[in-house]
This record gives sequence, C-alpha cells and structure tokens, in this order.
Amino acid sequence: MSRLDTFIRRLQAQRLCLDALADRLQGLPGPVLELGLGNGRTYDHLRERFPGRPIFVFDRQVAAHPDCIPPADQLRLGDFRETLPAYAAEGQPPAVLIHADIGSGDKAASMQLAADLAPSWARILAPGGFLASDQAVEHPLWTPVPLPPGVDAGRYHLYCREN
Ligand SMILES: C[S@@+](CC[C@H](N)C(=O)[O-])C[C@H]1O[C@@H](n2cnc3c(N)ncnc32)[C@H](O)[C@@H]1O
Repeated sequence: MSRLDTFIRRLQAQRLCLDALADRLQGLPGPVLELGLGNGRTYDHLRERFPGRPIFVFDRQVAAHPDCIPPADQLRLGDFRETLPAYAAEGQPPAVLIHADIGSGDKAASMQLAADLAPSWARILAPGGFLASDQAVEHPLWTPVPLPPGVDAGRYHLYCREN
C-alpha cells in the first residue's frame, strides 16, 4: 500500500469514527477534547458534528488553517504532558469525547506518549464517554469498542469508559 493510500485510509477512518461517535453521543452532555490541532482538519469536523459543545483543543503551537483556529479560551498550548494535567485540575465538566490524533512518524514515541497521557484521559473522561485515538492505549477504566464498518482493525482505536 502506498503512503498516499495509507494517508487516505487514516483520514477516512478518522471521519467514520468521529461520525459514529457523534451519533452515539447525542444527548450525553459535556465538552469534547481535541488533542493535536495540526492543520485543524479534524477540529473543523468536530465543530460540525458537535455543534453547540465546547471543544477544548491542545497542541504545542497553532499551525492550523486560519478558518480553524479555536477561540483562545478553548485553546491549551504546550506539551500535552503538562497541559492535560493542568486542564484536569481546572474543574471543567467531564468530557464526552477525547479525540487523540497525536501520532508522529516515530511509532514507539507515539505509543509512549499515549501511555503517558492515559492517566489524564482517565481523569477527564465522563462515564459513558469515548476515547478515539490514533494509538492503541489500554487502561482499566475503558474497554475497546468495535470500529464502524469500513474501518480496518488497528487503523483507529475506540474505547468507552464504563460507568
Ligand atoms: C497528526 S497531527 C494532528 C492533525 C490534526 N488532527 C488535523 O486534523 O489536522 C499531531 C499534532 O500533535 C501535536 N503534538 C504531538 N506531540 C505533542 C505533545 N507532546 N504536546 C503537544 N502537542 C503535540 C503536533 O504539534 C501536531 O500538530
């Protein structure tokens, strides 16, 4: 499979997963967290699929398309390892969805980053809430959820926090 194919399939998987979760999360109140603003593509999609909800966005820096810059009060800039614990201490309502699009070209480092962040995600995620991640990440608080049709196993990872 070419790198172009891999890229396209990753974006398709993201969209299918986020769309499926938007349907499942209707009626469950709470903010959405976007980890990895990047170009702003998935942030823009979340804005469309979760209208009216606060979307708190995390990244080292803002390098997004000008149309996809979050409002300052919903932006947390810095290393995830520092901004997530700080966010967890803010006392915001539990999040219904954490979307972690945090991977780099270094697979081992990306997996380690997800493992490092899992305790903060567990603090932030609401009972019944979902984690959608580009990295597999285990935690006793959540269980894997089947992927939507059209998403190959391992391409994206969905988890639900039990009550
Ligand atoms: C794959 S990109 C996100 C793409 C984005 N979701 C989009 O649709 O355009 C990953 C992002 O995570 C950020 N990132 C990676 N590791 C980070 C860390 N430890 N702390 C803060 N940001 C980090 C990078 O700066 C990058 O913007």
